[in-house]
Amino acid sequence: MEFKKRILVTGGAGFIGSHLVRLFVHKYPDYQIINFDKLTYAGNLENLRDVENAPNYIFVKGDIVSISDVKAAFETHGITDVIHLAAESHVDRSIEGPMDFVLTNVVGTVNLLQTSKDFWKGSEHVFHHVSTDEVYGSLGEEGFFTEKTPFDPRSPYSASKASSDHFVSAFYHTYGLPIKMSNCSNNYGSHHFPEKLIPLMILNIQNNKPLPVYGKGENIRDWLWVEDHVRAIDVIFHTGTIGESYNVGGLNEWTNIDLVHFLCRMMDDKLGRENGTSEKLITYVTDRKGHDLRYAIDASKLENELGWKPSIAFEEGLNRTVDWYLENKDWIEKVTSGAYQTYYTNMYSDR
Ligand code: NAD
Ligand code: DAU
Repeated sequence: MEFKKRILVTGGAGFIGSHLVRLFVHKYPDYQIINFDKLTYAGNLENLRDVENAPNYIFVKGDIVSISDVKAAFETHGITDVIHLAAESHVDRSIEGPMDFVLTNVVGTVNLLQTSKDFWKGSEHVFHHVSTDEVYGSLGEEGFFTEKTPFDPRSPYSASKASSDHFVSAFYHTYGLPIKMSNCSNNYGSHHFPEKLIPLMILNIQNNKPLPVYGKGENIRDWLWVEDHVRAIDVIFHTGTIGESYNVGGLNEWTNIDLVHFLCRMMDDKLGRENGTSEKLITYVTDRKGHDLRYAIDASKLENELGWKPSIAFEEGLNRTVDWYLENKDWIEKVTSGAYQTYYTNMYSDR
């Protein structure tokens, strides 16, 4: 079959990437989706069992830091478009060791840009770079990040993502590479690796383990259901303007401590525990170094120009998420055995 587009999705075995691959494989049978992923600790082909035999899906194990891996994928599959999600994504890991973040997030992104520039001659291509609101730094109690907010990254993770965003922009301005960018707030949903706040708390509540809240729990995040994020990428990829960036967010701000209390109450109900049982597990621990106080996105450009809106309320999304974790014990077993135990001990014992 002659495919209309052959899209390289980097990081398609990760949390957001697997949701995006699933959406595109089902919605666009006339596109071939080439999932290019190194399968780091965060990449998991179990996330894609339901699409692995689809006729328009291919998995390629490869590293975006390797120019030969990237070139081989472009040559073998005649890549027409890129949706770039591969990254080292966890802030706490970036504080422990920034170099993997420089390599994958900066060098890997430049490799992809350079290869796209070398391969693409006509104008019918899109390089969609998926990025984060963390590039804008930290807000006080008021205000929102817009696309015009100056970059002010604070953590090694956000510095590496901001650098990658600058390179994407540079390839547009310098070489005319047809890029689009999106900067999204915190995602939640199924298949989320349990180093991040929501899945970590769900598993610890279920297992009656301490719930490690950093500092006083007063930091604020703007939570968006992952399915709404990948719908936004779909809309921007297809109808966004070349050279533009779009903020994506949920208008859904929560302090960490309120969110953990909310999850405790929801899970007490689901697990048949007396109300108030899980809240006793909350443990305040040493704060994250350089912890950004507040993120909040103004997504009005995306809403007004491209007609995107979040589709479900937070309580509904969180309900579905908790149910998914309670129903998928095998997935949890696999991702929490081995290296995860070492990570957890290093990060949380004596904190
Ligand atoms: P994730 O950590 O769950 O997945 C990252 C994926 O990238 C994994 O499958 C991993 O194997 C792969 N990968 C890592 N290094 C690679 C390399 N060198 N070569 C090829 N593949 C590699 O991340 P996520 O949470 O799904 O985030 C995806 C993207 O979205 C990232 O770029 C992240 O910065 C961005 N983002 C995430 C969020 C969020 O809340 N999770 C919000 C906004 C933006
Ligand atoms: O804003 C988008 C970003 O959201 C993405 O770019 C990142 O890839 C993604 O990891 C996420 O970053 P955060 O640092 O905001 O997410 P995390 O889940 O690690 O933490 C959310 C908040 O919860 C943060 O204020 C730190 C706090 N926290 C986190 C963990 C893991 C705790 O209090 N305890 C914890 O154990």
